[in-house]
Amino acid sequence: MSAFLEERVLTVHHWTDRLFSFTTTRDPALRFSNGHFTMIGLKVDGKPLLRAYSIASPNYEEHLEFLSIKVPEGPLTSRLQNIQVGDTIIVGKKPTGTLLIDYLLPGKNLYLIGTGTGLAPWLAVARDPETYERFDKVVVVHGVRQVEELAYQQLFEKDLAEHEFLGEILKDKLVYYPTVTREPFRNQGRITDLIEDGTFPANIGLPALDPANDRVMLCGSPAMLADLKEMLEKRGFNEGNTSTPGDFVVERAFVEK
Ligand code: A2P
Repeated sequence: MSAFLEERVLTVHHWTDRLFSFTTTRDPALRFSNGHFTMIGLKVDGKPLLRAYSIASPNYEEHLEFLSIKVPEGPLTSRLQNIQVGDTIIVGKKPTGTLLIDYLLPGKNLYLIGTGTGLAPWLAVARDPETYERFDKVVVVHGVRQVEELAYQQLFEKDLAEHEFLGEILKDKLVYYPTVTREPFRNQGRITDLIEDGTFPANIGLPALDPANDRVMLCGSPAMLADLKEMLEKRGFNEGNTSTPGDFVVERAFVEK
């Protein structure tokens, strides 16, 4: 039996010349938890060419959604960026990963910190009603270089609040914090700096990150993960994994596709 499913592309959205997202059909047999990633890709010369992608759609949706960069020389994304509605992509049958609320100890506030395509897992976690049962506040941080890379800004700023069943659930709980590093914007600078200098907690009206109350998930570039992990550990946060829950969990967003 093949390790892959074949799915049909339903929609494609190009956010910028470096970033796009798409939705596909979903085999009902594909089960996953919100925050999981799976291998996806294309058949090239009859052989599967695959990379790890966070599943951006929540697990109760009938379709799958993915957020991808476009790397001109990237073996997969140089091709994947040209997909059209009706094309076929292949999807691994075994989603996995550490960015699950189950791998966090109970807490008060949940911080979902992503840079670039590292936003993708939060699109599933922040649309999971269970997330709001476990936490009083859910803060989604998206760090990007340019304003136009703030993909899904409208979802977080408008659509979710108006959503027929999530709207009520996340009211007063979901906080969206976009920040831009290379252009003027209302929140400007690297999230690491904004946490350290106190700008971030002041902007969202919550106290400084503290393992007594806060839980954190990180997804993005290796440099951001390393810096934030060090910052959190200095503040007394312990890393969790799939066997032992902790105060924070980490996953790399795969960027050289
Ligand atoms: P910067 O513009 O200062 O490099 P990328 O598009 O390269 O994945 O970056 C996405 C965002 O992550 C950018 O805003 C970038 O800021 C930021 N970033 C890169 N490295 C780090 C880091 N070590 N700590 C915090 N943010 C980072």
